[in-house]
Parts: sequence; structure tokens; C-alpha cells
Amino acid sequence: MMKRTHKCGQLQSEDVGQAVVLMGWVRRHRDHGRVVFLDLWDRDGIVQIVADPAIYEGAYEVAQSLRDEYVVAVQGVVRERPAGAENLALATGAIEVAAARIEVLNTVSPLPFPVEDAASVDETVRLRYRYLDLRRAEMQQNLRLRHEVVKGLRNALDEATFLEVETPVLTRSTPEGARDYLVPSRVHPGEFYALPQSPQQMKQLLMVAGVDRYFQIARCFRDEDLRADRQPEFTQLDLEMSFVDQEDVLDLTEGMIARVVKAVQPDRELLTPFPRLTYDESMALYGTDKPDLRWGMAFVDCTELLGATEVRIFRQVSAEGGAIKGFRVTGYSGATEAELETLQVLSRELGAAGVIWFHVGEGTLEAPVARHLAAEEQRMLIRAFDAGPGDQLFLVAGEPTTVHRALDGLRREMGRRLGLDDPAKLAFAWVVDFPLVKWDAEGQRWDAEHHPFTHPKMEDLAILETDPAAVRADCYDLVCNGWELGSGSIRIHKRELQTQVLALLGYTTETAEASFGHLMEAFEYGAPPHGGIAIGIDRLVAILAGTDTIRDVIAFPKTRQAVDLMMRAPAPVSSAQLGEIHVRVVRPRPARSDAGAE
Ligand code: AMO
Repeated sequence: MMKRTHKCGQLQSEDVGQAVVLMGWVRRHRDHGRVVFLDLWDRDGIVQIVADPAIYEGAYEVAQSLRDEYVVAVQGVVRERPAGAENLALATGAIEVAAARIEVLNTVSPLPFPVEDAASVDETVRLRYRYLDLRRAEMQQNLRLRHEVVKGLRNALDEATFLEVETPVLTRSTPEGARDYLVPSRVHPGEFYALPQSPQQMKQLLMVAGVDRYFQIARCFRDEDLRADRQPEFTQLDLEMSFVDQEDVLDLTEGMIARVVKAVQPDRELLTPFPRLTYDESMALYGTDKPDLRWGMAFVDCTELLGATEVRIFRQVSAEGGAIKGFRVTGYSGATEAELETLQVLSRELGAAGVIWFHVGEGTLEAPVARHLAAEEQRMLIRAFDAGPGDQLFLVAGEPTTVHRALDGLRREMGRRLGLDDPAKLAFAWVVDFPLVKWDAEGQRWDAEHHPFTHPKMEDLAILETDPAAVRADCYDLVCNGWELGSGSIRIHKRELQTQVLALLGYTTETAEASFGHLMEAFEYGAPPHGGIAIGIDRLVAILAGTDTIRDVIAFPKTRQAVDLMMRAPAPVSSAQLGEIHVRVVRPRPARSDAGAE
């Protein structure tokens, strides 16, 4: 085989006259009868190859036999393209390579799809042949971006004296709110490792070990319902620091993120310091703890104002302790009935009874419901929303959690509809002061809002047992463009408080000891105060890449059904293998179909 001298995308006008050997894939070939043009692709770009029989007969003959995606070596000389034949869209568009010799390194079977058109191919087909999908430019860019982001994070943390430490993948259950992936032990029949949902306890133990500043590009595993921003295995930038307070962690994280974004995308506008909202503010203004702050449309609470009117639904909701809230969309009163109707459908899908809208006129409101509002009430509502003629108000009334969920969904939809969700914009923000726990009505117990190791705010410790719902935690989320990007907290580092919090979460002394005895024991051997955060790397890269699914920035992702279509995992294993790990498969009984019942 010839020896490669250059990468395809590297060649420039300065290289004219150079003898080169290139290797890559045939991306397109055009046989013009007397001459064959090839686009030769490798990771660094595309260059045009010309096989002209007038110059080199042998190369021309091979070129004629080539098909897309053949792997070839091309020996030739770089030359200027004839005047008028330059391709400004191509980095190498000023030159071409006149082929002296072409060697076929590998042929291809008929392709399941042309690489160039892969973006329009069904995702399941792309995932089945992911290695082909990854050959297209957009995916290559995503891989490179991910590499640059991780490199930037590593550099920033290295400079800030963090140590990168690897923690086990075969470990025991770490409660992050999802189901564990379990690995049966061969050596210990009936016992299981759990794959870590995060290295949470390990990093805390590293603080007890005196590591002081730890980070890891950590693979995490969670068996949970998948969505566009969730994979069963994903990657966190996980970090932990000793002798710090919340401010230290936020400062460090913000500086690191800003620096990495600047390094990988210098033209991006990034607002620092990141705005901060308390959890309560975020819920009140946007109905969610991960608001998309690329646009306004903050909610206005009209419960008092409208609860006192003649409108029966408003009176009723207000009397039942519900909420009436809404947001204003500037200049949207020209919306068509059909546009409004889809919002109505959406609000119902989100659990609300419906959405009520008003067109704002000259000091009056126009809508069927408006007839039941006195002129002064209409004016007060317009004032409450700071609305002007041509604006549109959207209101939802009902149980507060439902109102928030519905309005959050409607606000996101309006952002999309009006093109305000511009992927070029980055709206980072901190959401702080989360509640420590939330009530699980079904299980009739308190659940950790973040995880059981989160430190309650010192000033709220006194009400830990008497009013758990009101206890706030030293806990923070980093959000960006409506996604939760990262989450962290100051941790409990003393056994007594950890025991108290676990008791609140329903652990008995025995179950607490069985699950977290190792951590609480470590707390007795000199645990420093500590705190940290974990940033979802897949999500960070997806936002920077401007894609709305993290699958696009993971080389080999799984489908929503947690299947790797390329490797065909999960897959059955032999009974011999099962025997070795002391496992017997109990298949779920097939659900009785209606046809079978007849
Ligand atoms: P948390 O569970 O909030 O916190 O996770 C931190 C971040 O990890 C990302 N993430 C995911 N990304 C893709 N797919 C998933 N299934 C998935 N689940 C989570 C998100 C999220 O913000 N140990 C704590 C961190 C800490 O307290 O320091 C933890 O794991 O971006």
C-alpha cells in the first residue's frame, strides 16, 4: 500500500505542484466520458480528484470502475483548477489533484443509503448503520465538538488544580431516582453489582480521602423512560470540592462553562454572570425549574383579580385554592382560529381544562369570556400583563401544579411558533434554593428533591421535622435553553444530620445502615465540608451543536426503547452463561390479546 502524505481537506493553493498520496472514501464520482471527477473524503474534508486518460491512462481506468464509498488511495499532483471551475463552497475548492495512480483499498456492497443523504433517512436505519451515518459532515462536526468540549473542560479543571480520578463501574446502588442496571455476580451467587447512576457517593468518599478537588468524565447508567435528552447511559462532568460553599461551586462552574464555550465557539454570545432565580421564582414565573430564558412571557398571577369577578370558573377555582395565571404574547392577536385551537388541544394534553385567551384591544379585551368582565376589570387585567393593543393573553385556571405544567408547555410552544427558540442563543441560568424534599402522594412519603446527601439550608434545620416541605436545600441547577444541564449541592458531611435526613425520607435505622452505612461510617473519620455538581456532557454538546436530541452527539446511542440497533443489544445469552451467573430467566406472560380471548 502507498503511504499517505496529506489529508484531503488540508490541500490549498500553496500546495500546487506537490506530489501527494491521499486516502479516503469516494463521496461522489462523475464520469464525463473523457475524464472522471471524484470527490475524495476523509475526516478533514473533501478534495476533487481528476482522472484524465490523456495524462494517466491507468488511473482513469480505475476511476471509471469506482463506486460511492469505495476506499481508495490516490497518488497524484496538486494543480490549480481551471479558471471558472473553482468551488468556493469547498475549502479545497481552488485546487484539484490530477491522479497518477488510484488503488482500490476496499470495495462496498450496495449501500443502505447514500451517506450524503443520511440526514433525511429514518433514524432507526441510521442507527443500524451508525458507522455510515457518522461519515456525514454534520456528525463528524458533532464528534469533533464533543472532543473539544471535553478537552476544554479537562484543561479548565486541571488549571484549577482538580484531580481526575476514575471510580468503579461495578458498584452498588446509588439513589439518583432511576432504576439501576444490575450485574449478577458469578463469584457470589444471588448478589449483584449495580452500575452507577452517578459517582455521587464515590466523589464524596474522595473528599473524605483528602482529594480536595476531584473531577471525572463519568459514564452513568440509569434505567428510566427515555426522551430526546435522556439516554440509559450518558456522560457527566462530575466534580466535587472540599471546604467550599455554594458560591464557590457556582463561581467555578460558571467560569469553566463560559471559558469552554468561548474556546469552542468564539462567536457565541454568552451573558455572564448567569442570571439566578430561586426555585420558587422559577416556578412562579415559568412554571418549571428549567425555564427557557431565550424569551420572556413570564407568568402573571391573576388569581386574586379574576377570582373576584363574575366569571364562574374563575370564582370556583379561586374558592378551591387553585390558581389563575397566564402570559402575554406581544402582537399575537392576529392568530387564526386554527392556531389557537391547537393551543387548546395542547393545554388539555397537559392536563388543564383548557386555555382561555383574550385579544387585547384599545383598553378592552375581546373574547367570549370578556363579556363577563366589567370594563374596570378588563383594564386591570391589561395593566397586570402590561399589555397593549394587538397583544394576546393566555390564561389557565385550576390546580396550581396543573396550571404551571400547562402554561410551561404553552409558553414553550409559543416560543417555538414565533421562532424565539433560536439555537444560536445561549440562555444559561442558575436555579437555586430548591426544596429539600417533595411529597410523594402515591407512596405517602417524602422523597429527596435532589438526592439524600443534599445539605438542608442551615437556617431551615430547625423545621426539618416539623415542616419538611418548607425546608430549602443548598442545592442548585444549571439550566440552558430550557434544559437542565447540571445539578449539584452542598453535601451533608456529618452522620447525625445524614441519619436525620434519611429518617425523614422513610429509612429506618436498619435500612439506612444497610444502604448508606459505608458513607456514614466515613463521615466519622474526618469528612470535610464539601459540595459539587455534575454537568450533563451530552446535553451541553447537544445545545452547542444546536440539535434537539442528545443522540446526535453520542457516537453510538440507543433508541427510545434502550436498544443498540447496530450491536443488537440487549441480546439473549446462552443458558451456560446464565448458569455461571446463577440466573434463570422468567419471561413475562404474554398479555392476552383480544383476538385470543374470543
Ligand atoms: P443529576 O441526577 O441531576 O445529578 O444529573 C446531573 C446531570 O446529568 C444529566 N443527566 C442525563 N443526561 C442524559 N441522560 C440521562 N438519562 C441523564 N440523567 C441526568 C443532566 C443532569 O443535570 N450526583 C448528582 C450530581 C451532584 O449532586 O453533584 C447527579 O447525578 O444534565
